[in-house]
Amino acid sequence: MTILVAGATGNLGGRIIKALLARGAAVRALVRTGTDPKKLEKLTTSNVTIVEADMTHPGQLTVACEGVDCVVSALQGLHDVIVKLQSRLLDAAIEAGVPRFIPSDFATDFTTLPAGENRNFDLRREFMEYIDSMPIRATSIMNGAFADLLMRDMPLLDFSKKQAGYWDDPNRQADFTTMDDIAAYTAAAALDIDTPRLLRIASFQRSPSELAEAASEVTGESFTLVNMGSLTDLAAYNRRARAANSDGEQQLYPRWQQGQYMQSMFSTLNDPLDNDRYTGIQWTGLKQVLSARNN
Ligand SMILES: NC(=O)c1ccc[n+]([C@@H]2O[C@H](COP(=O)([O-])OP(=O)(O)OC[C@H]3O[C@@H](n4cnc5c(N)ncnc54)[C@H](OP(=O)(O)O)[C@@H]3O)[C@@H](O)[C@H]2O)c1
Repeated sequence: MTILVAGATGNLGGRIIKALLARGAAVRALVRTGTDPKKLEKLTTSNVTIVEADMTHPGQLTVACEGVDCVVSALQGLHDVIVKLQSRLLDAAIEAGVPRFIPSDFATDFTTLPAGENRNFDLRREFMEYIDSMPIRATSIMNGAFADLLMRDMPLLDFSKKQAGYWDDPNRQADFTTMDDIAAYTAAAALDIDTPRLLRIASFQRSPSELAEAASEVTGESFTLVNMGSLTDLAAYNRRARAANSDGEQQLYPRWQQGQYMQSMFSTLNDPLDNDRYTGIQWTGLKQVLSARNN
């Protein structure tokens, strides 16, 4: 099968390509015309066909999609990318007769959450409405938060302060999946012609108190739990912070967007999980992630 990956020069996109090659797929990497050759180095050393295209040119995108079995988008951006560019790519895929499309969702399952509470999820929701109105089979992968984010300090888990923060309930779990696990699963899903509309996965599901416990075990130092307030307070703070920072509307990760992610993460949990749909995926454990950080 031939899989076209958009966002091929990106963090997740590169990993998806590696995982597709490992499963024996023919991979076409869609990149912008004039992409810095340094960014393409990893792709040129592997067995990937690089297709450069002017992303504003529907005809060039259609040519890129010809003969493709599934388009996987790992694009990242705001409205111009997640809605406009993905829609252009989707139209091109349909024009070229591509049967399946995996959009760049890779998020907490926003289909279970109200609109208006997470700007980046609202963009994906807008694209979801469009793709669901079109004659193509779509599959979204809902993986919760990237577990790799636990590698840096944030209120949820802060190695420098030796603390884990919680909202409402220290025992409420959230979904975490490593980028490599998402990539391995996405590659398997891209090659699976019978995927459902949504696939829900997690490398692990853990609460702030479980994060604190694991961090204490891995570091040998005691982590304390810190009450950050309620999710309702967090939502109100996010709304105020967003209203006070209009520049953030043009930024991918303004502070209030980070708060919105935290709010979303603890507002839903993937159940049941579709982790067992494919063989050959070794799910990463929390302690593996934290040990890698500690070393
Ligand atoms: N759940 C989570 O916790 C979490 C965390 C992080 C990311 N994600 C999601 O994972 C997905 C991939 O994110 P990532 O971090 O891998 O992104 P990334 O590393 O920033 O890569 C983004 C890709 O999109 C391409 N791109 C951006 N704007 C473009 C444009 N106007 N035209 C053509 N290509 C464009 C980039 O190409 P160039 O190299 O040419 O710029 C790059 O290949 C996104 O859906 C993101 O929201 C989820």
